[in-house]
Amino acid sequence: MADLVVVWRVTERCDLACRFCGYSRELRRPRRHSPAESVLAFGRVLAAHAAATGRRILLSWLGGEPALWPPLLTVGPELRGLGLQLGLTTNGTRLDPAFCAHLAEHYAQVTVSVDGLADWHDQVRGAPGLWARLAASIQRLAALRAERGAGPRLRANVVLMRGNLADFPALCERLAEWGVDEVTFNSLGGQERPGEFFERQRLAPEDLQALGRRLPALRAQLRERGLTLVGGAQYLDRLEAQARGQAWPVLDCAPGQRFLFVDEAGRAGPCSFTAAGRGVPIAELTEPAALVNLPELWRARFALDRPAPCADCRSTQVFGKFVTP
Ligand SMILES: C[S@@+](CC[C@H](N)C(=O)[O-])C[C@H]1O[C@@H](n2cnc3c(N)ncnc32)[C@H](O)[C@@H]1O
Ligand code: SF4
Repeated sequence: MADLVVVWRVTERCDLACRFCGYSRELRRPRRHSPAESVLAFGRVLAAHAAATGRRILLSWLGGEPALWPPLLTVGPELRGLGLQLGLTTNGTRLDPAFCAHLAEHYAQVTVSVDGLADWHDQVRGAPGLWARLAASIQRLAALRAERGAGPRLRANVVLMRGNLADFPALCERLAEWGVDEVTFNSLGGQERPGEFFERQRLAPEDLQALGRRLPALRAQLRERGLTLVGGAQYLDRLEAQARGQAWPVLDCAPGQRFLFVDEAGRAGPCSFTAAGRGVPIAELTEPAALVNLPELWRARFALDRPAPCADCRSTQVFGKFVTP
């Protein structure tokens, strides 16, 4: 368990055309990369902070598709060498044997997106045959970890929607067979990409209530298979409120204490929704002391002038998405 998780969206590029996603390669939008030098520079500050405080820091790459970020293979190990733990969330298209070996050697956590059983996953991700390749890659990662006696925690993230909800228990069973350690889930959101697919596939409050009733038994069943279904008590309530269109304001999320989000332009914020408008440029965070000061800085600023996204907070980590029940 890390004391501080830093999620860094290092690229806006993507090689898939997921029907629900704002980074789909089919959409016209900016496609920036973070420059390697600025990631290394802020990574060194994070590492110095970790060394000075004894805090464990997980630096987790996000995108777009982070495996498409050109300097990934060099920047990651360099920062790991300074004492940071590494993680990434990937669509799995680049999980060939060489990349799996790299992840097995250097990473503490690998999250692969799996959105249902084979037909559904391949259809919504616009990628025929991807599910079968993911099955092989995840099993390869699990085998490498067993061989080495060490390696990343393997996680699958599932976007729940109308078309895959009934298959969720069967999907979890398959993930357990592949060697996945834990499953996290989102409900389909429509903020970044509203439209016909979202309207057709979004979960209704009743869907989330039904899921909530099933979860305790499903959790127990999966625990026997060695798989943890993650998500704290409040998380389903939050998703249900969202499905009802009920805003959930958050007055004080303890900004900057245990979680930071950095975007491709180098703005560090307390979450992905506030980084661009209220974040601090990482170029200004050149000393470990600046990191120590961030929580108080944001708390004081936000008390006077609350960021608009806090009036209906969609940051899943605030509501326990990653809490082990
Ligand atoms: C934006 S992706 C980036 C990482 C990588 N390309 C991937 O697919 O895993 C990060 C996570 O957000 C999820 N996601 C994308 N669009 C979503 C939406 N509309 N609602 C909920 N989750 C979504 C993806 O399934 C993935 O697990
Ligand atoms: S979910 Fe991931 S793989 Fe799919 S389009 Fe978005 S960024 Fe790309």
